Amino acid sequence: ATNKNHQLRHVESMNILPSGAGNIPELNAVILGESLASEEHDLVFPNPKFSQHALVSSPQKYLEMYTRSIEDPAGFWSDIASEFYWKKKWGQQVCSQNLDVTKGRINIEWFKGGLTNICYNCLDKNIESGNGDKIALHWEGNELNIDGSLTYKQLLEKVCQLANFLKDNGVKKGDTVIVYLPMIMELPITMLACARIGAVHSVVFAGYSAESLHQRVMDCKPKIVITCNAVMRGKKVINLKEIVDAALSESSQNGVFVATCLTFENESAMKKEDTKWLKGRDVWWQDVVPKCSTTCDVEWVDAEDPLFLLYTSGSTGKPKGVLHTTGGYMIYTATTFKYAFDYKDTDIYWCTADCGWITGHSYVTYGPLLNGATVVLYEGVPNYPDAGRCWDIVDKYKVTIFYTAPTLVRSLMRDGDDYVTRYSRKSLRVLGSVGEPINPSAWRWFFNVVGDSRCPISDTWWQTETGGFMITPIPGAWPQKPGSATLPFFGVQPVIVDEKGNEIDGECSGYLCVKNSWPGAFRTLYGDHERYETTYFSAFPGYYFSGDGCSRDKDGYHWLTGRVDDVINVSGHRIGTAEVESALVSHPQCAEAAVVGVEHEVKGQGIYAFVTLVDGIPYSEELRKSLVLVVRNQIGAFAAPDRIHWAPSLPKTRSGKIMRRILRKIASKQLDELGDISTLADPSVVDQLIALADS
Ligand code: WT7
Repeated sequence: ATNKNHQLRHVESMNILPSGAGNIPELNAVILGESLASEEHDLVFPNPKFSQHALVSSPQKYLEMYTRSIEDPAGFWSDIASEFYWKKKWGQQVCSQNLDVTKGRINIEWFKGGLTNICYNCLDKNIESGNGDKIALHWEGNELNIDGSLTYKQLLEKVCQLANFLKDNGVKKGDTVIVYLPMIMELPITMLACARIGAVHSVVFAGYSAESLHQRVMDCKPKIVITCNAVMRGKKVINLKEIVDAALSESSQNGVFVATCLTFENESAMKKEDTKWLKGRDVWWQDVVPKCSTTCDVEWVDAEDPLFLLYTSGSTGKPKGVLHTTGGYMIYTATTFKYAFDYKDTDIYWCTADCGWITGHSYVTYGPLLNGATVVLYEGVPNYPDAGRCWDIVDKYKVTIFYTAPTLVRSLMRDGDDYVTRYSRKSLRVLGSVGEPINPSAWRWFFNVVGDSRCPISDTWWQTETGGFMITPIPGAWPQKPGSATLPFFGVQPVIVDEKGNEIDGECSGYLCVKNSWPGAFRTLYGDHERYETTYFSAFPGYYFSGDGCSRDKDGYHWLTGRVDDVINVSGHRIGTAEVESALVSHPQCAEAAVVGVEHEVKGQGIYAFVTLVDGIPYSEELRKSLVLVVRNQIGAFAAPDRIHWAPSLPKTRSGKIMRRILRKIASKQLDELGDISTLADPSVVDQLIALADS
């Protein structure tokens, strides 16, 4: 093993589980830790002092809670739900569900009949319990000396002002609001204001193009759009208002007219005077919101009323509007946050994700605030002005829990240890990782260098659809293995199935599914319940299918192996190959395109596009650039192909199906693994493509 020079904390002995615990086989081997020989099976034991103070202090404790959560989900979750404020308690049935397509419509409900409000639970409840003067949000601007903060009381006032503005402008319970904002405090403020009045927010990551924003406007027809004029990302000014203008003008030409565009003046990036303005539609936030009252009655909503829509990529070109409801999502994000990060009242929490993704919904805004936590929001890019910025922020705010993505870990690792070690980081206590599998070498660097071999890493596996963590370490409870998301969260029953949908036990690999619902699960795809059923519940009837491959080792630990559908994961962002392809073929000189993912040192996966040009058009550098540009314009810069490979023709079967398996091998230069190419209509295409690989 190559880890000898690292200071992984192996301790000789761990408590042995009480006998009888054997009914959950996963845990037996954790205790024994037999398999230290191979690198992948190294066990990293928690520091005994950490475990002593941890919320879940041992495998036994976990096992007790886990067992109850599976045997008595209603009791387990309603005990937790009772710690929150409900205007009216839920009905007799805590959960009703059907996950089996062969038995009828897929349906999931938790706490139905209960009346609550997530904004009330995030803010008012914490203020009433005496935490009103605690800092809710620390905001760190792109530039070093620009920052701000809001206490829970101040945050509530800001939220109420916006909520009142929305109400005054006709936004009612159930109406949709599109939010296109960068990481400024107005983003969580907007989410909470919508929640307060029962409006459904749909945050669109402010890196999406006008075209993508337009698509989302067309799909959910918002009453109002909330944005800001511009943002600084590193040294670049991004004119967000221009993107919104383009999107809204296209939407109104297509019959969806948005009456109000509330625009925050982000002064440090752009002045009012320089912002393009559409009189009658556009309103400056600063002109109207501060005039509204700082108190606003709560709209009590049913646990199953929608809270938000978040669009994500699937295997067709059309993005899916993942719909989450209120009650179950609230209980689930709060509980997963608390246990997976071993949250204590004294913690200062920073998650580097943008609120434009699910991570920012569940673990920047809702999960932490429901726990009354102090949250750091950072506007800028993590390596500006240099690669030490994250640790500068950690020291400045004394961050104790730091949650980020493997792609950032790898990129900072490349920049060298000096940028890290020049900062103290001694406040850090727990680290977290999300978005893609974290490779063991990045895990070790994160653990040893960033965390000084002191902080457990929660490698959290979950999805936009799951609402919250599904498979995750619980710090202090059991040993970790670098690169493994370890074991299921309470109430979650992951299963691995084979091609035929049979559950497989023990050491195995296959498709990752979940049996039984959990409170944070999404309830439908907006406006397309049928697609919800076919995408997630039809492949393996009786189960929720995640789209991920997974193996389970002999200790019962889970190792995620990546997507098994036509979705690629670039820097933790999910991108459908079909979306990139349809952008490419919209270029007038592109006849056909096939996109595959290839391994990328920093991004995890890179986008590799094979393109066939219209007859007679020669391939050139200029054309390559304009093909990349068309993807940036239609989706966003984060989806720009890393590589364009000119393909006079594509490998197809006789029935005309593109064989991506072969393209993947060509893209990753694994030419000795091409496999059987005899089924191709024209096998000589393969040699032609290989010959063009370096052109
Ligand atoms: C996909 C979901 C959930 C927040 C971020 C992405 C991959 C996510 C892990 C992890 C291995 C992971 C999966 C999943 N993924 N976290 N810890 N280990 N893979 O959300 O955009 O909905 O993407 O991200 O492939 O299916 P998303």
